[in-house]
Amino acid sequence: MDNATALLLQFIRHPARVGALAPSSRRLARTMVAWPDMDNARAVAEVGTGTGVFTEAILESLGPDCRFFGIEIDARLVNVARKRHPNVTIHHDSVANIREICRLEDVPHLDCVICGLPWAAFTAPIQKEFMDAITAVLRPGGQFVTFAYRQSLLTRSGRRFQTQLHRYFGTVSRSRTVWRNFPPAFVYQCKR
Ligand SMILES: C[S@@+](CC[C@H](N)C(=O)[O-])C[C@H]1O[C@@H](n2cnc3c(N)ncnc32)[C@H](O)[C@@H]1O
Repeated sequence: MDNATALLLQFIRHPARVGALAPSSRRLARTMVAWPDMDNARAVAEVGTGTGVFTEAILESLGPDCRFFGIEIDARLVNVARKRHPNVTIHHDSVANIREICRLEDVPHLDCVICGLPWAAFTAPIQKEFMDAITAVLRPGGQFVTFAYRQSLLTRSGRRFQTQLHRYFGTVSRSRTVWRNFPPAFVYQCKR
């Protein structure tokens, strides 16, 4: 089974958790890693690795001494991403446990979190729980990158998430729209 079919099947089984009908495009993956200072990062985590599209772009941009691991909650997608990137540790777990995962990895703080979570599909308490967990391990000055579909800004939860970002981060900016993605999306670039 190809990666796109694997994601689609998991979307049918768990729509609110997967939040995407198709894997992100290569163009969106490149936009995700274009802004953060990957060259100087010592520890980077990817959250919601899915089929591993962003993982590929992250691996291409990381410095040689950087610690890197992924976190994905869906067992089937963990298998897909592990097959695609056999040298990357992908934890089968929830981002809610990112503090414990960092302890396991012996990483006191993260310099950067690249995040593929479907924020607009989450309720307010879940958005808060996951943002609290992520920002607890992101060092001051650390960078957080995530994406949103353009249409998500028409929804209350999508707008709520955007407002939340300004509460958690001193700087929040947005990339241009990546039209070569289904659906078109943009990237939030945030700094603690
Ligand atoms: C929109 S998909 C993005 C997948 C991939 N990064 C991409 O861009 O194609 C969201 C991913 O987040 C994962 N996810 C959802 N809730 C999660 C959680 N609490 N912890 C870790 N991963 C989660 C889903 O299983 C899914 O693989």
